[in-house]
Amino acid sequence: MLYSEKVMDHFQNPRNVGKMEDADGIGEVGNAKCGDIMRMYIKVDPETQVITDVKFNTFGCGSAIATSSMATELIKGKPVSEALELSNHAVVEALDGLPPQKLHCSVLAEEAVRAAVRDYYDKNGIAYGDELREC
Ligand code: FES
Ligand code: FES
Repeated sequence: MLYSEKVMDHFQNPRNVGKMEDADGIGEVGNAKCGDIMRMYIKVDPETQVITDVKFNTFGCGSAIATSSMATELIKGKPVSEALELSNHAVVEALDGLPPQKLHCSVLAEEAVRAAVRDYYDKNGIAYGDELREC
């Protein structure tokens, strides 16, 4: 089987799909490898800095849908600072793996999450370190 059960599940029943009208941070990124795009919305509790809600939209492939869906589950209820640390490899691991040729799809989810957090930080004047991660 090329795809794990978890990947199939998140592809067929993606969690947290949609738009968020009152988002506190929005990240939109494109995948240089395939041209697919992804938008991620986060709602943040200003007191605790915890992500209370997440939504995503993508024109990406099945693997992009599955990884974004899993990424939203991993960051919901977590502090924004932790979401910024989320790596595509952690998402892929949580999905029990992806075929090597689809790994680049998971980068879209990671980058969209980070872009949404950065947007939140920018809008609230919060300084952050922004290191590029090696793929
Ligand atoms: Fe573009 Fe998967 S092929 S995100
Ligand atoms: Fe390409 Fe990590 S996603 S090796």
